[in-house]
Amino acid sequence: MTTTLVTGANTGLGKETARQLVAAGHIVYVGARDRERGQAAAEEIGARFVRLDVTDDASVHSALALIEAAGGLDVLVNNAGIAKRSPDGRGEALDGPSALAVFDVNAVGVIRVTEAALPLLLRSANPVVVNVSSALGSFWATHEPARPAAHYPAIVYGASKAAVSMLTVQYANAVPEVKFNAVEPGITATNLGGGNHPGRPAEISARIVVRWATVGKDAPSGTFQEDDGELGW
Ligand SMILES: NC(=O)c1ccc[n+]([C@@H]2O[C@H](COP(=O)([O-])OP(=O)(O)OC[C@H]3O[C@@H](n4cnc5c(N)ncnc54)[C@H](OP(=O)(O)O)[C@@H]3O)[C@@H](O)[C@H]2O)c1
Repeated sequence: MTTTLVTGANTGLGKETARQLVAAGHIVYVGARDRERGQAAAEEIGARFVRLDVTDDASVHSALALIEAAGGLDVLVNNAGIAKRSPDGRGEALDGPSALAVFDVNAVGVIRVTEAALPLLLRSANPVVVNVSSALGSFWATHEPARPAAHYPAIVYGASKAAVSMLTVQYANAVPEVKFNAVEPGITATNLGGGNHPGRPAEISARIVVRWATVGKDAPSGTFQEDDGELGW
């Protein structure tokens, strides 16, 4: 059996990814910072719940200790992510505390969870990490006029996702035993940024996350993927 942890899995893309991985036969841990909402989501999709706030070292360590005691971990999906809107709701919050909060969840959170998960992953026969990044963090896509990312200002969020992409490359180089890949899930209707995020249904976007969470030992590592194949960094 393959055991998978999805962070931020009580709603949106994370919940849909968890649902599809349960359907694919994985034992799935729904990581969520809110016990009630996490438990409800896990029950709904036939997964297990683990309380996990990616900004809190103690919470991350106790979540991974629980998973280790229950048998270990094969796949980690670093999905938890936030964007912060400005008070007038028209743009992005660009004050220091908001920027720090976004980097704490989106980038430092990936380091916290990955570091705590690595000892478990290194005991797996096929260890895999998927980092949910964004085309808004791609230097290529933000320079490509045909891509939406070139026209949508996301100063803090985009920079935090560029960090997620570089974390993917750095970890892939540093830990060759584990497949690390970044995924752009596509523009998706979720609660990101406080709700009413436009886009396609999470059921569709989660498929690319699931595809890269279920790769075999011959898969590449250190790549950036979207629906149609590799995405430029
Ligand atoms: N939607 C898009 O168009 C899009 C495009 C590209 C990439 N992404 C990325 O996809 C991922 C999922 O986002 P989404 O669109 O599904 O948004 P969402 O519906 O807002 O879901 C985000 C999830 O992250 C969780 N989260 C936030 N802070 C957390 C923390 N400190 N610890 C643990 N979990 C935390 C949220 O939990 P709460 O419910 O408790 O807040 C929620 O479960 C993010 O990394 C996002 O950047 C989204």
